Amino acid sequence: MTQELEEYVLNHIDPEPDHLRRLDRDTHVRLLYPRMRSGHLQGRLLKMLVRMVKPHSVLELGTYSGYATQCLAEGLTDDSAHVHTIEIDDELEDFIRHHLKHSPVAHRITLHIGDAVDILARLDCTFDMIYIDANKRDYLAYYDLAMAHLAPGGYIIADNTLWDGKVADPACHDAQTMGIRRFNDRVAADPRVECVILPMRDGLTLIHRLD
Ligand SMILES: C[S@@+](CC[C@H](N)C(=O)[O-])C[C@H]1O[C@@H](n2cnc3c(N)ncnc32)[C@H](O)[C@@H]1O
Repeated sequence: MTQELEEYVLNHIDPEPDHLRRLDRDTHVRLLYPRMRSGHLQGRLLKMLVRMVKPHSVLELGTYSGYATQCLAEGLTDDSAHVHTIEIDDELEDFIRHHLKHSPVAHRITLHIGDAVDILARLDCTFDMIYIDANKRDYLAYYDLAMAHLAPGGYIIADNTLWDGKVADPACHDAQTMGIRRFNDRVAADPRVECVILPMRDGLTLIHRLD
């Protein structure tokens, strides 16, 4: 997408709430790799998807700044609905918690610091929606764990599934591209789900568990 078209899109969707605009600015000033955060467009989409599905429980793998976490929580309609999010990098904890203090949806969010695989294996509950956005090498392991914790009829959303177009480039064999390819192949062949890849930003896969 050209910069002009991106600006046009951002001017014709719901505006970014002030607290998220501040979070985004602070992410660029204080964190490494600010490109990793979801941002205005994807954040509004995540909120809308939550509004459409009306999940009671949402899980995010890979919190980073907490931008998407807050967007997912914003979409919740049920008073008792909640978002759990898991981040492996404990150096991000203070940043995430500082911005949660200024968030109108902080009471709907529980942050877990640790490895998503370990924490998810220990969590004895199911989720109606799971957003996969952690280590690209481990997407297949996340998928298997997510399916084990997904309620019947639930949804998985996976980010970065086109990986800058590298998934379709036969010359790319790095570990992250291979990880995303293994995930994409497994999901496409899994009879338990239906799926669609949205070619927006870095690729967003929507997966619906059928049983
Ligand atoms: C792409 S960023 C997440 C962006 C965030 N979901 C958003 O949309 O704004 C990926 C994050 O996953 C974290 N991560 C990587 N491996 C992880 C793991 N095994 N468990 C939990 N978090 C992990 C990284 O430290 C990083 O902060």
